[in-house]
Parts: sequence; C-alpha cells; structure tokens
Amino acid sequence: MPAARRTPSAPGRIGVLATVPVALAALLATATPAAAGTTGAAGVGDPYFPLAGNGGYHVSHYDLTLRYDTRSRHLDGRAVLTARASQPLTRFDLDLSGLKVTGVTVDHTRAAYRRDGQELVITPRHALRAGQRFRVTVTYDGTPKPVTDPDGSPDGWIATDDGAFVAGEPQGAMTWFPADNHPLDKASYDFTLTVPEGRTAVANGVLLGTRTARGTTTFRWHQAEPMAAYLATATIGAFKVRQYTTRDGIRVYDAVDPREAGAAEPVLRQLPAVLAWESGIFGPYPFRAAGSIVDRAPDVGYALETQTRPVYDSAPDLDTLVHETAHQWFGDSVSLTTWKDIWLNEGFATYASWLYGEQHGGPSAQQTFDKLYARPAGDELWAYPPADPGSGARIFGTPVYARGAMALHALRRAVGDRAFPHLLRAWAAEHRSGHGTTADFIALCERLTGKNLSGLLRTWLYAPGKPARPGGAGTP
Ligand code: ARG
Ligand code: ZN
Repeated sequence: MPAARRTPSAPGRIGVLATVPVALAALLATATPAAAGTTGAAGVGDPYFPLAGNGGYHVSHYDLTLRYDTRSRHLDGRAVLTARASQPLTRFDLDLSGLKVTGVTVDHTRAAYRRDGQELVITPRHALRAGQRFRVTVTYDGTPKPVTDPDGSPDGWIATDDGAFVAGEPQGAMTWFPADNHPLDKASYDFTLTVPEGRTAVANGVLLGTRTARGTTTFRWHQAEPMAAYLATATIGAFKVRQYTTRDGIRVYDAVDPREAGAAEPVLRQLPAVLAWESGIFGPYPFRAAGSIVDRAPDVGYALETQTRPVYDSAPDLDTLVHETAHQWFGDSVSLTTWKDIWLNEGFATYASWLYGEQHGGPSAQQTFDKLYARPAGDELWAYPPADPGSGARIFGTPVYARGAMALHALRRAVGDRAFPHLLRAWAAEHRSGHGTTADFIALCERLTGKNLSGLLRTWLYAPGKPARPGGAGTP
C-alpha cells in the first residue's frame, strides 16, 4: 500500500542543523532557497536522458531478490541498496518504471514515498547527512513491462515464451529493479533469483549456488566488479547450461535456448579463443566471470553486452560474439559518463571486430574502412557525427558504430600499427572499473604518442558531413 505524501521530516532537518553554529545556520538558510540543497536531483544531468540516474548519493551495492512466475509473468522483488549521500538529503529519488511499490525503508525505518513517472521519490524519516552511508529497501511486485527507447526498441524486462530476456541499455534496468539508472553510478551486485523448477535464471558474475525446493529453483549470483545498472541481467528460460574454467582462470557459464543450440554452439565454443585474443590486444580481461546467454527472443532485435555474460536474442554469429566480448573492456569496465559518448562503446567494439577479421583471414581493417568510405556523402553513415549524435534516438545508429570505428582506424593510420594497440590498452588500463570521456581519450592519445591528434579525431568524431580522406599524401 503506497504511503501518504509527506513533506521532509522536521526532526531530520533539525538533526542536520544542530551541528552547525546557529548564526551560520541562519546565514545558510537565507542564502539557499528552502530545501534546494537537501533534495536529490531527479537525474544526473544526462543531455539525452535527463531523468536517468539521480542526484545526491551513490550506490555501492545492490542486493536483488526476485521471484518470477514464468506462467503468470508476475515478478516479486526486494531490492536492498547500500548507498552514500554526497550531500545532505531530506529526499532523494530512485528510478523505477511500472510495477507496484509495497514498501520502502531507509536504514530499517519506514520511509514515505511516492511515484512520479519514472521517479520513485523517497523521503526518509530522518534526513541524511553528507557522507552518510545508508541502506534503502524497496519491496515491489507486478508484471514488468519493457520501456520503448527513443529508437523504438523494447528495453528492459521482455517476456519470452519460456521466461524473460532481460537487457537494459540505455534505460530498461528500471523496469525490473529500482536503481540509480545511469552508467555514472556503478556498484557491485548480488542476485537471488527464484523461478519454476526446470527454468534457469542467469545473472552477471559468478554462480554462488542453486537450490531446488517445492517446485522452484533459486539461483544466487554475485557480480563483484562495479557494474552500471544497464548491464545487469536476470534472463530466464529453459536453458541448456555449460560451465567451465578457461586456462586463464575465468569462470565461464553458458546458457542456451535448446532451439538455438545448433547454430550457437560452434560460435560459443570460440569464446575462450576470443577472450585470449582480445586480452592479447586490450590487456587483461577485466572480470573473473564470462559466458553467453543465447535466448530465443524474436521481439528484441539486438544483443547486449551484459557484464561478464552478453545476452543474445538468437544464436549470434562470430562477429557479434567478438563485438559483445570487446564491450567487456570498452563500455563495461570503462563506462560512459554520458550517453552522448556512446561511440566510446560502439565504435570500439565495432573496430575490435574489424581487427579480429583482419587477423583471422578476413578483410583488412583498411579494406573495411575503404568500403565504408566509398559511400556517397548523402549516405546515413555521414548523417551525424559519432561523438555528437544529437539525441537518444540516434545513439545506436550507423554513424556511432561504423564512423566511430572509422575514427579509430584514422587514428591508427596517424599513429602507426605499433603505437595503436598501446592506446587501446592504456585506455582500458587507466579507466578500468571506472569511466572515460571522449576528451579523456583524445588527451590520452596525444599524451602517449606526443602527436597532435585532436584535429584528426575532432574531425572524425564531431564534424558534420563526410570527412576528408585521412592520411593525406601517401594514403592508398
Ligand atoms: N549495445 C548493444 C550492442 O552491442 C546495442 C543495444 C541496443 N539497444 C537498444 N535499446 N536499441 O550493439
Ligand atoms: Zn555494441
């Protein structure tokens, strides 16, 4: 039952101010409009997704306990978030789309809450101090509904004939758990997923254990390395499962819809080789777990690089496996700071598959580049620049993937084949488990090569229209 609307609790406010000398408190009170400094913002300020994420705190851990009935499509959830306030908070938001909230506590004390679109607005009984650690528990249930992205794709918890395909880029995490739903805030995760016996629930990271009782099976997963909410999954189906450990000690868990197994198996078998090849170029694999989830989800239309274990809507081809695996370095370990920088994910993953092709008997990256470059000025490839797509509807468009990869190829031509992999490796190492921006990447390239590269990169990344052919004289 939803709690009544309430204004921030007076005792909490007094608690905050009591530590401040009275005269200073009076000064602060007149200097800032009432409550403005103590209300967490509804978003982190992303230009394309203004309500994504929230202000005023950071989450360090999510503990998600979910029970899903694959027949009725009913989800029962409890999310426990461990967070830390980055400012005084009388009120803060989580992102949650649909579902019914049945209770919220902050540090085990019942909190007031209300829904406002995708914002779950929480007013704790006691205001939080800047720097204070706190724990929020949200219980909720209902039938999850995917959101429709600006590009028209379904995103989030997408029911299938035997379970659910769960992928959340860029917004869908909030369709199945309350989150600080922006890649700026990364956290570790625990998942306890209960599904009907015979179904398998696959999340990120390492499988801690399973237990079957009274017709249901519970799967416990642990994702230790920090993860953006959009990369979380809890995909459910009647899967065939295989587990093994690679020579590098990476724990692999594959879950495959039997109807896709024939086409998927030869590709999934390549994963250890792809991980080893990518590690050779990008540096050590950033996670302790890996694997693939191959579902049959005809309504989805894409795969996602869910952390440690990409999820595919049908049997992937090798190129797609290489792409999603490269995202583990570029996108998952090194995260975006805003969705505008999406080329740092998609351009890099696309270029990884060009490189893979080049070194495995396919066309050279130069040939792939040339073929794309031959497209006329009016082609969609040149419709907008990759590092400034202009809207959330364009973040998964051809310019982001293909021209983003072309920008990396132009960079490679400028710095040479020897220096180029060092840049990729340094990017992955310096921002491992963290974040990066396009400006950071350009600065890193210039710092490590001593070359002036910003003209070239800015043209390929930011200039409208078809760039002049890179390399000048001597370029084939
Ligand atoms: N990042 C995914 C990839 O590897 C694409 C996700 C597309 N998502 C969407 N909502 N359109 O290419
Ligand atoms: Zn991608």
